[in-house]
Amino acid sequence: MIPSRAMLLPWLGLLLCLPLGAPAAPHIVFVLADDLGWNDVGFHGSEIRTPRLDALCAQGVRLDGYYTQPLCTPSRSQLLSGRYQIHTGLQHEIIWPCQPHCLPLDEKLLPELLKEAGYVTHMVGKWHLGMYKKDCLPTRRGFDTYFGYLLGSEEYYTHERCYEIKAKNITRCALDFRDGEAPATDYANKYSTHVFTERAVDLIANHQSDKPLFLYLAFQSVHSPLQVPDDYIEPYGFIKDKNRRLYAGMVSVLDEAVGNVTDALQKKGIWNNTVFIFSTDNGGQTMSGGNNWPLRGRKWTLWEGGVRGVGFVTSPLLKLKGISSPELIHISDWLPTLVNLAGGSTNSTKPLDGFDVWKTISEGSPSPRVELLHNIDPLFDDSSPCASPRTWISSNKSRNEPRVCSSKANPPWRRNPSFNASVHAAIRHKNWKLLTGNPGCSRWFPPPSLGAEIAAPDSANKTLWLFNIAHDPQERNDLSDKYPHLVKKLLSRLEHYYRDSVPVYYPEDDPRCDPGPSGVWGPWE
Ligand SMILES: *[C@@H]1O[C@H](CO)[C@@H](O)[C@H](O)[C@H]1NC(C)=O
Ligand SMILES: *[C@@H]1O[C@H](CO)[C@@H](O)[C@H](O)[C@H]1NC(C)=O
Ligand SMILES: *[C@@H]1O[C@H](CO)[C@@H](O)[C@H](O)[C@H]1NC(C)=O
Ligand SMILES: *[C@@H]1O[C@H](CO)[C@@H](O)[C@H](O)[C@H]1NC(C)=O
Ligand SMILES: *[C@@H]1O[C@H](CO)[C@@H](O)[C@H](O)[C@H]1NC(C)=O
Ligand SMILES: *[C@@H]1O[C@H](CO)[C@@H](O)[C@H](O)[C@H]1NC(C)=O
Ligand SMILES: *[C@@H]1O[C@H](CO)[C@@H](O)[C@H](O)[C@H]1NC(C)=O
Repeated sequence: MIPSRAMLLPWLGLLLCLPLGAPAAPHIVFVLADDLGWNDVGFHGSEIRTPRLDALCAQGVRLDGYYTQPLCTPSRSQLLSGRYQIHTGLQHEIIWPCQPHCLPLDEKLLPELLKEAGYVTHMVGKWHLGMYKKDCLPTRRGFDTYFGYLLGSEEYYTHERCYEIKAKNITRCALDFRDGEAPATDYANKYSTHVFTERAVDLIANHQSDKPLFLYLAFQSVHSPLQVPDDYIEPYGFIKDKNRRLYAGMVSVLDEAVGNVTDALQKKGIWNNTVFIFSTDNGGQTMSGGNNWPLRGRKWTLWEGGVRGVGFVTSPLLKLKGISSPELIHISDWLPTLVNLAGGSTNSTKPLDGFDVWKTISEGSPSPRVELLHNIDPLFDDSSPCASPRTWISSNKSRNEPRVCSSKANPPWRRNPSFNASVHAAIRHKNWKLLTGNPGCSRWFPPPSLGAEIAAPDSANKTLWLFNIAHDPQERNDLSDKYPHLVKKLLSRLEHYYRDSVPVYYPEDDPRCDPGPSGVWGPWE
């Protein structure tokens, strides 16, 4: 009998592609940087040098139409759940240290799905998806091992987070560092990026190669506070602005760290079966050294500077390499993309907002995503307005007074026939982007060496903008007057998403979060 092609192919696959003992599914290493801005990497033309990232990016696919959320918790929630914030209740700000809240426990997360597909799952670094009870911890949500911190805005050496507990009239500074679920007390005076890199390299070196590896490495770099070992600042004497200089040093540590991690993958001999993804979690914070020039706005805003993210994929498994992709890709797309790549199933998740974009990245096919809801946040209140651009967000800053959210089944907006354009929202459809309400600080911020901030030309009361992002990525020419039919269409899409959203969940601080004078931030319930 002559074997058919269909019978032969799996055998050929086995013989040619899979060395004995190697898993069929690729290893997946996902590196997430914190607050790294568009203009903060060499491959975007920054004055900051990132040779390792540049080289990796040049070997892979640079994602030029890649979007994240404008903030930490939101981006991480979408990365791990594949779902928009309007579907998880996380539309507003972040999860603050004392809020009894976490990424809802009925969401099935990326590491759980990869585990079901046979992966060993490790997480190193920043969680920031809630920790008020043990069930919220990364170790209970799909990661075999965890090493890192649960909150945000820590000190890089002490690994402490300070937070004002208003109900008790105290500012509490306490350790936020864990190995598994136990406090990790042996790392004082060690810079977090070195500590996390060391752990990642260790996990790679000790990996049992017959199983596929998923490593989620969420660095603290390059979030404020601006702290970095002196050596890394030395090459940046030419940067006069002190914040920018320190920040540049921080980016250099991150670059070295990524180099060390990829070296470890090569040394282990698994690089040729690894998919390596690098992404930021949101745009750069211009008040803390970051920069998104020439994009408008910054972290916390729905302008491109807040949401268009640095990202690339590098892997010997890509069909096309050394190119950049202009296609629309969003941080919520990684879950279905990676689970399918892993040979897993997304059958058990709630309805996903992400798309499988592997063919887009690997083969250059058009993105299956034509629309992207950036967010709708009816409670938005600009916590870092640009009227006082030199105000620092100190790590002791406590959040705004909590606002009570309506959980009524039929709040007024549900009865409104069309979208309320005073609400903070933005949507992308193909090349068109509509913003409504207050999108957040709307200036342009050149890097300090190039000059001063550029004020927005808009009147104070303006609440609606339409841009063609393909032609005008800097969001300079509002076309809302010229194309009213497009405005109407996009407003109706926003209304559609608004009607489909769950109420914002943003509980008041629970003073029981207080770890006490010698304690450690962690679950209190
Ligand atoms: C809070 O503490 C400060 C100093 O510790 C004190 O001056 C102030 O009166 C306190 N406020 C309240 C409301 O207890
Ligand atoms: C990278 O590895 C080198 C050599 O082991 C080490 O000196 C350096 O500190 C590492 N860098 C980071 C960021 O961990
Ligand atoms: C991957 O690397 C291993 C170890 O170096 C080698 O044995 C194997 O043939 C390589 N596989 C592919 C698909 O290149
Ligand atoms: C997922 O659902 C599809 C369609 O219902 C089905 O064909 C497939 O077998 C399911 N996969 C798993 C792993 O359950
Ligand atoms: C935060 O508050 C603590 C206690 O009040 C203080 O010791 C520390 O210096 C403050 N840190 C910053 C960055 O303001
Ligand atoms: C529209 O949204 C704004 C901002 O959230 C709110 O103040 C106003 O009450 C809303 N108007 C209506 C008619 O719901
Ligand atoms: C903005 O709106 C307020 C309140 O409706 C009004 O008093 C003010 O004149 C407006 N400003 C501009 C620049 O249109």
